[in-house]
Amino acid sequence: MPRLTLLDGQEQIEDLLQVRLRPVRLEDYIGQPTLKKRLGIALKAARKRGEPLEHLLLYGPPGLGKTTLAHIISREMGGNLVTSSGPAIERSGDLMGILTNLQAGDILFIDEIHRLPRPVEEFLYSAMEDFQIDFVVDKGVFAKTVKITLKPFTLVGATTRAGLVSAPMRERFGLLYHLDFYPVEDLQEIVLRSSSILGVSIDPLAAREIASRSRGTPRIANRLLKRVRDYAEVMGDGFINREIAAKSLVLEGIDPLGLDELDLRFLTTIIQVYKGGPVGIEALAATLNEEVDTLQDVVEPYLLKSGFIIRTPSGRKITELGLAHLGLT
Ligand code: ADE
Repeated sequence: MPRLTLLDGQEQIEDLLQVRLRPVRLEDYIGQPTLKKRLGIALKAARKRGEPLEHLLLYGPPGLGKTTLAHIISREMGGNLVTSSGPAIERSGDLMGILTNLQAGDILFIDEIHRLPRPVEEFLYSAMEDFQIDFVVDKGVFAKTVKITLKPFTLVGATTRAGLVSAPMRERFGLLYHLDFYPVEDLQEIVLRSSSILGVSIDPLAAREIASRSRGTPRIANRLLKRVRDYAEVMGDGFINREIAAKSLVLEGIDPLGLDELDLRFLTTIIQVYKGGPVGIEALAATLNEEVDTLQDVVEPYLLKSGFIIRTPSGRKITELGLAHLGLT
Protein backbone atom coordinates (compact mmCIF):
# COMPACT_ATOMS: atom_id res chain seq x y z
CA MET A 1 0.00 0.00 0.00
CA PRO A 2 1.45 3.47 -0.80
CA ARG A 3 2.66 5.28 2.33
CA LEU A 4 0.39 8.29 1.77
CA THR A 5 -2.73 6.15 1.89
CA LEU A 6 -1.47 4.51 5.06
CA LEU A 7 -0.96 7.90 6.77
CA ASP A 8 -4.33 9.15 5.60
CA GLY A 9 -5.92 6.04 7.05
CA GLN A 10 -4.18 6.60 10.36
CA GLU A 11 -5.28 10.19 10.47
CA GLN A 12 -8.83 9.13 9.89
CA ILE A 13 -8.56 6.64 12.74
CA GLU A 14 -7.24 9.43 15.05
CA ASP A 15 -10.21 11.60 14.09
CA LEU A 16 -12.61 8.78 14.75
CA LEU A 17 -11.06 8.20 18.16
CA GLN A 18 -11.46 11.89 19.06
CA VAL A 19 -15.11 11.75 18.16
CA ARG A 20 -15.55 8.44 19.96
CA LEU A 21 -14.31 9.88 23.26
CA ARG A 22 -17.23 12.30 23.31
CA PRO A 23 -20.30 10.94 25.13
CA VAL A 24 -23.38 11.00 22.91
CA ARG A 25 -26.11 10.44 25.48
CA LEU A 26 -26.70 12.48 28.61
CA GLU A 27 -26.54 9.33 30.75
CA ASP A 28 -22.94 8.76 29.57
CA TYR A 29 -21.91 12.29 30.50
CA ILE A 30 -19.72 12.29 33.60
CA GLY A 31 -19.73 15.16 36.11
CA GLN A 32 -21.66 18.48 36.37
CA PRO A 33 -24.44 16.69 38.33
CA THR A 34 -26.71 19.70 38.85
CA LEU A 35 -26.51 20.75 35.22
CA LYS A 36 -27.13 17.16 34.14
CA LYS A 37 -30.23 16.88 36.29
CA ARG A 38 -31.70 20.20 35.13
CA LEU A 39 -30.93 19.51 31.49
CA GLY A 40 -32.35 16.00 31.76
CA ILE A 41 -35.65 17.36 33.03
CA ALA A 42 -35.79 20.11 30.39
CA LEU A 43 -35.10 17.57 27.62
CA LYS A 44 -37.74 15.13 28.88
CA ALA A 45 -40.35 17.88 29.27
CA ALA A 46 -39.70 19.25 25.79
CA ARG A 47 -39.88 15.77 24.25
CA LYS A 48 -43.11 15.04 26.14
CA ARG A 49 -44.72 18.21 24.77
CA GLY A 50 -43.32 17.58 21.32
CA GLU A 51 -41.69 21.01 21.34
CA PRO A 52 -38.10 22.03 20.68
CA LEU A 53 -35.95 22.61 23.75
CA GLU A 54 -35.83 26.26 24.86
CA HIS A 55 -32.77 28.27 23.83
CA LEU A 56 -29.88 27.46 26.09
CA LEU A 57 -26.76 29.39 27.09
CA LEU A 58 -23.73 27.47 28.34
CA TYR A 59 -20.95 29.38 30.01
CA GLY A 60 -17.67 28.40 31.58
CA PRO A 61 -13.96 28.05 30.85
CA PRO A 62 -12.81 26.28 27.67
CA GLY A 63 -12.59 22.48 27.52
CA LEU A 64 -15.33 21.71 30.04
CA GLY A 65 -17.83 20.22 27.58
CA LYS A 66 -19.95 22.98 26.02
CA THR A 67 -19.63 21.54 22.50
CA THR A 68 -20.11 18.02 23.84
CA LEU A 69 -23.38 19.11 25.48
CA ALA A 70 -24.60 20.64 22.21
CA HIS A 71 -23.97 17.27 20.51
CA ILE A 72 -25.79 15.45 23.30
CA ILE A 73 -28.78 17.80 23.09
CA SER A 74 -29.14 17.31 19.35
CA ARG A 75 -28.93 13.56 19.81
CA GLU A 76 -31.43 13.53 22.68
CA MET A 77 -33.87 15.76 20.78
CA GLY A 78 -33.39 13.95 17.47
CA GLY A 79 -32.53 17.11 15.50
CA ASN A 80 -29.52 17.96 13.34
CA LEU A 81 -26.68 19.90 14.88
CA VAL A 82 -25.55 22.96 12.94
CA THR A 83 -22.44 24.59 14.38
CA SER A 84 -20.93 28.01 13.91
CA SER A 85 -19.19 30.63 16.01
CA GLY A 86 -19.56 34.31 16.80
CA PRO A 87 -16.54 35.54 14.85
CA ALA A 88 -17.46 33.36 11.82
CA ILE A 89 -20.82 35.05 11.33
CA GLU A 90 -19.78 38.44 10.02
CA ARG A 91 -23.02 39.72 8.47
CA SER A 92 -26.75 39.31 9.04
CA GLY A 93 -26.89 37.73 5.58
CA ASP A 94 -24.61 34.90 6.77
CA LEU A 95 -26.90 34.27 9.71
CA MET A 96 -30.01 34.42 7.52
CA GLY A 97 -28.59 31.67 5.33
CA ILE A 98 -27.99 29.49 8.38
CA LEU A 99 -31.40 30.18 9.95
CA THR A 100 -33.50 29.62 6.83
CA ASN A 101 -31.81 26.26 6.24
CA LEU A 102 -32.70 24.93 9.71
CA GLN A 103 -35.28 22.14 9.93
CA ALA A 104 -37.85 21.91 12.71
CA GLY A 105 -36.14 20.69 15.89
CA ASP A 106 -32.60 21.41 14.70
CA ILE A 107 -30.00 22.66 17.15
CA LEU A 108 -27.99 25.70 16.15
CA PHE A 109 -24.78 25.83 18.18
CA ILE A 110 -22.99 29.18 18.22
CA ASP A 111 -19.66 29.04 20.03
CA GLU A 112 -18.17 32.28 21.39
CA ILE A 113 -21.59 33.84 21.03
CA HIS A 114 -20.36 37.01 22.79
CA ARG A 115 -18.27 37.73 19.70
CA LEU A 116 -21.22 38.05 17.32
CA PRO A 117 -21.16 41.49 15.68
CA ARG A 118 -23.85 43.70 17.22
CA PRO A 119 -26.07 43.96 14.07
CA VAL A 120 -26.00 40.17 13.71
CA GLU A 121 -26.89 39.78 17.38
CA GLU A 122 -29.87 42.10 16.98
CA PHE A 123 -30.97 40.18 13.91
CA LEU A 124 -30.96 37.04 16.03
CA TYR A 125 -33.37 38.45 18.64
CA SER A 126 -36.60 38.03 16.63
CA ALA A 127 -35.42 34.66 15.30
CA MET A 128 -35.03 33.47 18.89
CA GLU A 129 -38.20 35.08 20.17
CA ASP A 130 -40.81 34.22 17.57
CA PHE A 131 -38.92 32.28 14.89
CA GLN A 132 -39.30 35.15 12.47
CA ILE A 133 -36.82 37.40 10.75
CA ASP A 134 -37.29 40.68 8.96
CA PHE A 135 -35.33 40.80 5.77
CA VAL A 136 -34.83 44.19 4.11
CA VAL A 137 -34.93 44.14 0.32
CA ASP A 138 -33.99 47.08 -1.92
CA LYS A 139 -32.53 50.34 -0.72
CA GLY A 140 -33.60 53.91 0.09
CA VAL A 141 -37.23 54.80 -0.69
CA PHE A 142 -37.79 51.38 -2.28
CA ALA A 143 -36.67 49.52 0.81
CA LYS A 144 -39.24 47.16 2.24
CA THR A 145 -39.10 44.43 4.82
CA VAL A 146 -40.13 40.89 4.09
CA LYS A 147 -41.07 38.69 7.03
CA ILE A 148 -39.65 35.19 6.88
CA THR A 149 -40.98 32.52 9.20
CA LEU A 150 -38.43 30.00 10.41
CA LYS A 151 -38.90 26.43 11.55
CA PRO A 152 -38.82 26.13 15.34
CA PHE A 153 -35.22 25.46 16.38
CA THR A 154 -33.10 25.57 19.52
CA LEU A 155 -30.19 27.95 19.83
CA VAL A 156 -27.38 26.67 22.02
CA GLY A 157 -24.98 29.52 22.73
CA ALA A 158 -21.60 29.04 24.37
CA THR A 159 -19.35 31.59 25.97
CA THR A 160 -16.41 31.61 28.35
CA ARG A 161 -18.03 34.26 30.55
CA ALA A 162 -21.75 35.04 30.91
CA GLY A 163 -20.86 38.68 31.63
CA LEU A 164 -19.63 39.06 28.06
CA VAL A 165 -23.09 38.36 26.62
CA SER A 166 -25.27 41.46 26.34
CA ALA A 167 -28.27 41.66 28.65
CA PRO A 168 -30.91 41.59 25.84
CA MET A 169 -29.25 38.48 24.38
CA ARG A 170 -29.00 36.75 27.75
CA GLU A 171 -32.68 37.43 28.49
CA ARG A 172 -33.71 35.52 25.37
CA PHE A 173 -32.32 32.25 26.67
CA GLY A 174 -34.74 30.13 28.69
CA LEU A 175 -31.99 27.94 30.12
CA LEU A 176 -28.67 29.21 31.46
CA TYR A 177 -26.13 26.68 32.66
CA HIS A 178 -22.73 27.25 34.17
CA LEU A 179 -20.02 24.63 33.71
CA ASP A 180 -17.53 24.43 36.54
CA PHE A 181 -14.12 22.76 36.78
CA TYR A 182 -14.42 19.00 37.37
CA PRO A 183 -13.31 17.40 40.64
CA VAL A 184 -10.50 14.84 40.38
CA GLU A 185 -12.91 11.90 40.96
CA ASP A 186 -14.98 12.85 37.90
CA LEU A 187 -11.89 13.36 35.75
CA GLN A 188 -10.57 9.98 36.89
CA GLU A 189 -13.82 8.40 35.73
CA ILE A 190 -13.53 10.24 32.40
CA VAL A 191 -9.94 9.01 31.94
CA LEU A 192 -11.02 5.42 32.71
CA ARG A 193 -13.92 5.71 30.28
CA SER A 194 -11.68 7.14 27.54
CA SER A 195 -9.06 4.44 28.17
CA SER A 196 -11.64 1.75 27.72
CA ILE A 197 -12.83 3.35 24.47
CA LEU A 198 -9.23 3.64 23.23
CA GLY A 199 -8.50 0.05 24.30
CA VAL A 200 -5.73 1.16 26.69
CA SER A 201 -5.10 -0.78 29.89
CA ILE A 202 -4.61 1.51 32.82
CA ASP A 203 -4.36 1.24 36.60
CA PRO A 204 -7.08 3.31 38.34
CA LEU A 205 -4.31 5.05 40.33
CA ALA A 206 -2.66 6.08 37.06
CA ALA A 207 -6.01 7.45 35.87
CA ARG A 208 -6.13 9.44 39.10
CA GLU A 209 -2.61 10.74 38.52
CA ILE A 210 -3.63 12.00 35.06
CA ALA A 211 -6.89 13.40 36.46
CA SER A 212 -5.18 15.37 39.20
CA ARG A 213 -2.85 16.98 36.66
CA SER A 214 -5.65 17.96 34.27
CA ARG A 215 -6.50 21.42 35.60
CA GLY A 216 -10.12 20.37 36.25
CA THR A 217 -10.66 20.04 32.50
CA PRO A 218 -11.81 16.91 30.58
CA ARG A 219 -10.25 18.09 27.31
CA ILE A 220 -6.86 18.30 29.03
CA ALA A 221 -7.40 14.90 30.71
CA ASN A 222 -8.04 13.24 27.35
CA ARG A 223 -5.04 14.98 25.79
CA LEU A 224 -2.74 13.92 28.62
CA LEU A 225 -4.06 10.35 28.41
CA LYS A 226 -2.86 10.20 24.82
CA ARG A 227 0.61 11.47 25.76
CA VAL A 228 0.82 8.91 28.56
CA ARG A 229 -0.36 6.17 26.20
CA ASP A 230 2.49 7.07 23.79
CA TYR A 231 4.99 6.99 26.64
CA ALA A 232 3.74 3.65 27.93
CA GLU A 233 3.92 2.10 24.47
CA VAL A 234 7.46 3.34 23.79
CA MET A 235 9.05 3.13 27.24
CA GLY A 236 7.13 0.12 28.57
CA ASP A 237 4.78 -2.61 27.44
CA GLY A 238 1.78 -0.34 26.92
CA PHE A 239 0.24 -0.80 30.36
CA ILE A 240 -0.21 2.51 32.16
CA ASN A 241 0.68 2.37 35.84
CA ARG A 242 0.98 5.31 38.16
CA GLU A 243 4.76 5.61 37.80
CA ILE A 244 4.60 5.66 33.99
CA ALA A 245 1.83 8.28 34.10
CA ALA A 246 3.73 10.54 36.50
CA LYS A 247 7.04 10.21 34.60
CA SER A 248 5.45 10.98 31.26
CA LEU A 249 3.58 14.01 32.62
CA VAL A 250 6.73 15.40 34.24
CA LEU A 251 8.36 15.04 30.82
CA GLU A 252 5.44 17.02 29.35
CA GLY A 253 6.17 19.85 31.82
CA ILE A 254 2.90 19.44 33.70
CA ASP A 255 3.25 20.17 37.41
CA PRO A 256 1.52 18.05 40.11
CA LEU A 257 -1.57 20.25 40.06
CA GLY A 258 -1.67 20.45 36.29
CA LEU A 259 -0.33 23.98 36.01
CA ASP A 260 1.35 24.42 32.66
CA GLU A 261 4.11 26.71 31.52
CA LEU A 262 1.83 29.73 31.00
CA ASP A 263 0.18 29.31 34.42
CA LEU A 264 3.60 29.25 36.05
CA ARG A 265 4.85 32.26 34.07
CA PHE A 266 1.68 34.12 35.11
CA LEU A 267 2.36 33.44 38.79
CA THR A 268 6.10 34.11 38.71
CA THR A 269 5.58 37.37 36.79
CA ILE A 270 3.21 38.67 39.46
CA ILE A 271 5.80 37.78 42.09
CA GLN A 272 9.01 38.82 40.39
CA VAL A 273 7.95 41.80 38.28
CA TYR A 274 5.05 43.16 40.31
CA LYS A 275 6.19 42.23 43.83
CA GLY A 276 3.20 39.93 44.33
CA GLY A 277 0.65 42.44 43.03
CA PRO A 278 -1.83 43.96 42.81
CA VAL A 279 -1.33 44.26 39.06
CA GLY A 280 -3.82 45.09 36.31
CA ILE A 281 -4.52 42.48 33.66
CA GLU A 282 -3.35 44.73 30.81
CA ALA A 283 0.04 45.24 32.43
CA LEU A 284 0.38 41.50 33.03
CA ALA A 285 -0.62 40.71 29.45
CA ALA A 286 1.98 43.15 28.14
CA THR A 287 4.73 41.68 30.31
CA LEU A 288 3.79 38.11 29.39
CA ASN A 289 3.30 39.02 25.72
CA GLU A 290 -0.11 37.29 25.76
CA GLU A 291 -3.67 38.37 24.88
CA VAL A 292 -5.76 39.76 27.73
CA ASP A 293 -8.59 37.41 26.66
CA THR A 294 -6.35 34.35 26.93
CA LEU A 295 -5.32 35.32 30.43
CA GLN A 296 -8.90 36.08 31.50
CA ASP A 297 -10.61 33.09 29.88
CA VAL A 298 -7.98 30.35 30.01
CA VAL A 299 -5.38 31.07 32.68
CA GLU A 300 -7.07 33.00 35.48
CA PRO A 301 -10.20 30.93 36.17
CA TYR A 302 -8.26 27.88 37.32
CA LEU A 303 -5.72 29.91 39.33
CA LEU A 304 -8.61 31.73 41.05
CA LYS A 305 -10.41 28.46 41.66
CA SER A 306 -7.23 26.96 43.15
CA GLY A 307 -6.84 29.99 45.43
CA PHE A 308 -3.40 30.88 44.02
CA ILE A 309 -4.43 34.41 43.08
CA ILE A 310 -7.20 36.79 44.10
CA ARG A 311 -8.78 39.62 42.18
CA THR A 312 -8.97 42.94 44.01
CA PRO A 313 -10.30 46.30 42.74
CA SER A 314 -6.69 47.33 42.09
CA GLY A 315 -5.69 44.14 40.27
CA ARG A 316 -4.50 40.55 40.69
CA LYS A 317 -2.55 39.49 43.76
CA ILE A 318 -0.66 36.32 44.57
CA THR A 319 -1.88 34.47 47.70
CA GLU A 320 0.00 32.58 50.40
CA LEU A 321 -1.20 29.38 48.76
CA GLY A 322 0.15 30.53 45.40
CA LEU A 323 3.54 31.33 46.96
CA ALA A 324 3.58 27.99 48.79
CA HIS A 325 2.84 26.11 45.55
CA LEU A 326 5.96 27.67 44.02
CA GLY A 327 7.97 26.82 47.14
CA LEU A 328 8.20 30.47 48.25
CA THR A 329 7.04 32.35 51.32
N1 ADE B 1 -15.25 13.17 27.66
C1 ADE B 1 -15.04 14.48 27.76
N2 ADE B 1 -15.86 15.02 28.67
C2 ADE B 1 -16.61 14.03 29.15
C3 ADE B 1 -17.64 13.95 30.14
N3 ADE B 1 -18.05 15.03 30.80
N4 ADE B 1 -18.18 12.77 30.37
C4 ADE B 1 -17.76 11.69 29.72
N5 ADE B 1 -16.79 11.69 28.81
C5 ADE B 1 -16.22 12.85 28.52
